[in-house]
Amino acid sequence: MSDFAERLLVWFDGAGRHDLPWQHPRSPYRVWLAEIMLQQTQVRTVIPYYQRFTAALPSLSALAQAPLDQVLALWSGLGYYSRARNLHRTAGMCMDNHNGELPCDFAALSALPGIGRSTAGAILAQAHGLPFPILDGNVRRVLCRLHGIDDWPGAAATQQQLWGLAQSHLPDTRLADYTQAQMDLGASVCTRSTPRCDACPLRDQCAAHREQRTAQLPARRSKPALPQRETHMLLVLDKQQRLLLTRRPPTGIWPSLWSLPQVRDTGEADRWLAGIIKTGKSPQQLGEPLLHTFSHFRLQITALHYAMVQAKPIAGDNPDMQWRSLDALDQIGLPAPVRRLISRLAA
Ligand code: ADE
Repeated sequence: MSDFAERLLVWFDGAGRHDLPWQHPRSPYRVWLAEIMLQQTQVRTVIPYYQRFTAALPSLSALAQAPLDQVLALWSGLGYYSRARNLHRTAGMCMDNHNGELPCDFAALSALPGIGRSTAGAILAQAHGLPFPILDGNVRRVLCRLHGIDDWPGAAATQQQLWGLAQSHLPDTRLADYTQAQMDLGASVCTRSTPRCDACPLRDQCAAHREQRTAQLPARRSKPALPQRETHMLLVLDKQQRLLLTRRPPTGIWPSLWSLPQVRDTGEADRWLAGIIKTGKSPQQLGEPLLHTFSHFRLQITALHYAMVQAKPIAGDNPDMQWRSLDALDQIGLPAPVRRLISRLAA
């Protein structure tokens, strides 16, 4: 038996769950029902529903003969009602095509509505003691940590690697306990946040524990890189140390906030400033471009500094433009990266 399975089973005997209702008695119907209920729902929530359901419909044939409305009523409160519909359909299909039983052949079982690869494995292992692996969220987490797998477990290649590892760890006896043990370990010890590594039977083989990476594994899905846009902001100062500000449009980023004039490049800056300051001064780039992240893109901002300019009167008393003293900027709303650029003037 693999070392993994052996340690897990010893741990399960002392610390696993042995009194779950689907363990007593353990029949294919009862295991199947439990696995479907547990697909999106925690054990604690499932148990009363499970007891009510099995009391009302104690067998596959009772379920197949029940009206769908009764099944849905018994399910009511568990959510994801397609699970209940699939349960009812599958019961009917078993009566019609599989002699009134859930098939114990992997291909036939996993072809039934609502039964994926992991659920089929969980049923065959628990109900028939057959050597099939499972790979639910708990097992994925345990395996990613144990083997130090850095890739996102949802990726097809990682998934394939994890199935291979799950298969390689299978014991040749006690498949029902082994299957329950993996779920129990994931639920009570190798939890998503603050795992209890001191209580883990696999601690001294665990890559994540050895490398102190339990918080990083399993890896989260890496988000696609945000598109990047570029802009230039103009820091135009006159001889009285007044800074030219413009108000942003009422929609888009920083709506209606005062900000620095913004242009695509220096050529556009010259054209834009023509009516606002007297001479065509050439600007200095102020520091390195600043990168600011919005929810949907990143903005690279290059600051262009025009010093000691001679201001013309603001045309038509434009209310969205003003010369404002550098030491009177606290009273107006400026976007944080704009404030940061302005503070470079003091340096
Ligand atoms: N999640 C899915 N199947 C389970 C089981 N048998 N015990 C605990 N959690 C589970």
